[in-house]
Amino acid sequence: MAINRTSSHGEWSSRTAFILAATGSAVGLGNIWKFPYITGENGGGAFVLIYILCVMFIGIPIMLAEVYLGKRGRLNPIASIKYISEKENRSKNWRVIGLIGILAGILILSYYSVIAGWTMAYATRAAFGVINNIDAVGATLMFNNFVSDPERLLAWHTIFSIMTAIVVSKGVKSGLESAVIRLMPALLVLLLALVIFSAIEGDFVGGVEFMLYPDFSQVTWKTILIAMGQAFFSLSLGMGALMVYGSYLSSDISIPKTCVIVASLDTLVALLAGLAIFPIVISSGLEMTQGPGLIFQTLTVAFGAMPGGQLFGTLFFILLIFAAWTSSISLIEPMIIWMIEKYNLTRIQAATISSGLAWLLGIGTIISFNVGSEIKIFNMNIFETLDYLTSNILLPLGGIMITIYVSWLISKESINKELNIKSNILRYIWYFSARFIAPIAVIMVMLNALGFSIDGVL
Ligand code: TRP
Repeated sequence: MAINRTSSHGEWSSRTAFILAATGSAVGLGNIWKFPYITGENGGGAFVLIYILCVMFIGIPIMLAEVYLGKRGRLNPIASIKYISEKENRSKNWRVIGLIGILAGILILSYYSVIAGWTMAYATRAAFGVINNIDAVGATLMFNNFVSDPERLLAWHTIFSIMTAIVVSKGVKSGLESAVIRLMPALLVLLLALVIFSAIEGDFVGGVEFMLYPDFSQVTWKTILIAMGQAFFSLSLGMGALMVYGSYLSSDISIPKTCVIVASLDTLVALLAGLAIFPIVISSGLEMTQGPGLIFQTLTVAFGAMPGGQLFGTLFFILLIFAAWTSSISLIEPMIIWMIEKYNLTRIQAATISSGLAWLLGIGTIISFNVGSEIKIFNMNIFETLDYLTSNILLPLGGIMITIYVSWLISKESINKELNIKSNILRYIWYFSARFIAPIAVIMVMLNALGFSIDGVL
């Protein structure tokens, strides 16, 4: 395989642009749609605490390792690892990390795009005033009616798939950078406005207590696995997305600082989303445990009651569409780069094939909410199975392999050069976390939660 190591890649114009793109990838439906509903399902405060610990002690160390691979390899995830393995005299089989990642990305995108479609439908509803003055019962009815119509879901899913395909077929610079710079700050401002509304109109004390007061009596290994999976999902970790973004990074930029900034912004957005949602869930009498519909029902009630809610609601959902859009790009980009570099396809061909595949798989998620809701795999519907398989199995698996590969098998000189951690203490902390804490924690949580109890061993 002859590869020109620069041809298919652009390069980020600055460190800021990389931070924005990585944040654009990280901040998305994971923060605003998924974080509140799985926190609601898993009991609140204790889950949030475990989630934050996972981001700090598992997420950030693995993030450094993943960006390192991309920055050094400068190719698609599979070829980068193959190239680095040759240089370091390691087995080329480690490139299976790239393959798992590409697969995980497409599987995630298939349902991500369906939910992004819901967001578009709700933006339209907000714009036409359909949600004005709606109450909790009305919002629940509206959501249930909406998801029970497979054709409507398919139409929105199709539109979002096309939107993703269009941006990725244009390449990196023109597509990604410009969108993120303008829209992220706007999303943050609207989210803050929503939190203020919640504080005034919702049961703010109840919501904050639910989110921050830890009750460990409900915590099981499965809870921890879900929190950990969410950390991977929300940081866009373990599937090669950050590897690809890292490969666009020019070589003189400090990875660690950049990663800490991205992880902090991502966590901030998730916590703000929780602060905005939970007070309203409580005050409007909605259920914490209603699952994927939680924010759609809660936000319609909130915007329906808010002065200017028609305008703010429309804007909020539109910004959420953009956040989902910048994330979906990073889900598909590893597969695209790989197809371009390996099979010599044009960007447009690669974009068409990979988005087509994700679109097709998305039909499985669509029918999980209506005609196919009875189809169960391990007691979960198709959507839940896809989500469980990717967030709780494939991403952590990719993450463990990345951290083990980088921290144990790569020469210290190369790590020091690329990671560029100036302080000795911080470098030791990273090595210790990447070599021991992150892999042991991930393996322990996965083994326990997936049913192989190791109580007797430890
Ligand atoms: N992090 C995004 C979100 O929170 C989703 C996402 C984008 C992702 N790229 C990824 C998840 C890569 C895992 C891997 O919405």
